[in-house]
Amino acid sequence: MSIPALQFARENQSRFLEELKDLLRIPSVSTLPEHRGDVRRAAEVLALELQRIGLENVQLIETTGHPLVYADWLHAAGKPTCLCYGHYDVQPPDPLDEWASPPFEPTERNGNLYARGAVDDKGQMYMHVKALESLLHAHAGKLPLNVRVILEGEEEVGGEGIAQFVREHPEQLRADFALISDTEMFAPDLPTLCVGLRGMIYTEIEARGAATDLHSGMYGGAAPNPFFALCQVLAQLKDADGRISIPGFYDAITAPSTQELKAWKSLPFNEEEFQHKEVGSSALTGESKYSVLERLWARPTLEVHGMPGGFTGAGAKTVIPAKALAKVSMRLVPEMEPQKIFALYKRYVESLCPKGIMLDVRLIHSGDPIVLRVDNPYVQAATAAMRDVFGKETVFVRSGGSIPIVGDFERSLKIPSVMMGFGLPDDNLHAPNEKFHIANFYRGIESLIRFFERLGAEKIGAA
Ligand code: BES
Ligand code: MN
Ligand code: MN
Repeated sequence: MSIPALQFARENQSRFLEELKDLLRIPSVSTLPEHRGDVRRAAEVLALELQRIGLENVQLIETTGHPLVYADWLHAAGKPTCLCYGHYDVQPPDPLDEWASPPFEPTERNGNLYARGAVDDKGQMYMHVKALESLLHAHAGKLPLNVRVILEGEEEVGGEGIAQFVREHPEQLRADFALISDTEMFAPDLPTLCVGLRGMIYTEIEARGAATDLHSGMYGGAAPNPFFALCQVLAQLKDADGRISIPGFYDAITAPSTQELKAWKSLPFNEEEFQHKEVGSSALTGESKYSVLERLWARPTLEVHGMPGGFTGAGAKTVIPAKALAKVSMRLVPEMEPQKIFALYKRYVESLCPKGIMLDVRLIHSGDPIVLRVDNPYVQAATAAMRDVFGKETVFVRSGGSIPIVGDFERSLKIPSVMMGFGLPDDNLHAPNEKFHIANFYRGIESLIRFFERLGAEKIGAA
């Protein structure tokens, strides 16, 4: 099939890439207060670009945190409406000295573009923008279907702003389905749709002992140590085989269907390679009675991310800190409910509190787990579009990661989602040397163009 939009996209590849680099130069780190202005600047740049390519009603929508970017084009009467979602915020870049090139100076090496946000999610979000530009250009300012674009700047910090907007203004995002490019392909050259994400609760446990920091010689032996208290609590949350000890934690879980489990078995997965090339550890851990993919995709986890407090400088300081913190998150699988799991966890942690210590257990953010239905024309069209570009059958996978808003799209907007992602397993998301395989940036744009063209050509539901 001859598709003028594809030709436009091919002719403009290098410009698209240079524009992406400009976006990547903006350090839009949502969690760091000192980057607040940068996050807004990224939103403004995107709003201008959406305007320039010919979308309408472009606006920044203020939230309690970073702004949302909205745009639409709704003139394809009788055609479906797509809600294109992406996030323009990024994770902090540290540790800086492990980057081969600076995180906010996008650099090409070996067919990859290295920068914080290259694949998560600026590069992938920008594929949507460039696919839409190509279509608008090739069709004299028209699109084959209706489109609303919503971009958030708080995904990496839990997405509270967009969740509130979706709950309060579902009519402003009315669509037939959502399209999200913020996931990975299962292997290079293997077109992949992600049909499930884990949910999560992110928590903090604060332990307080003495009224103030104490000399550990003068008081050690009689005064409580909040770090030790946290260690004792944390050690009782999970056993050596990875089973989480919180009473009731596993009660609501529904296992994947036998059909899904069978499909996972036929994916090209090599445990040795995963351990050595991706994880790089001397062993894999976790619940040994489940396969690695089941452990990653269909089982909950509990992790400790950091324990700020006390003395962490070079050298030695003999102090018993007055307080200590542990950052602890849990990944959830269907049908675990974040609020219920938090309540079970809080009660259990409090029951473990050692003498002389006060514990404060706080919820920072949460998101629902999700498994998508695949029996709809949107998933079908996505499968076909990716197959056309990659020349291989598209596989369905789940992912262990979380994108909190996808659950809200289902619940508040009552629409299905299509998660068409083009990251690779070794793209170093959230880590030093994050990259996007440049060929996948282009193949992603082509897949999206074909996807939109297909949906525009089909006779399916109207918004
Ligand atoms: N894009 C990721 C989630 C992801 C990664 C999905 C890999 C599939 C494959 C997203 O930006 C992310 O990092 N989400 C956070 C969510 C959290 C901060 C609420 C996550 O999973 O830790
Ligand atoms: Mn992401
Ligand atoms: Mn991320």
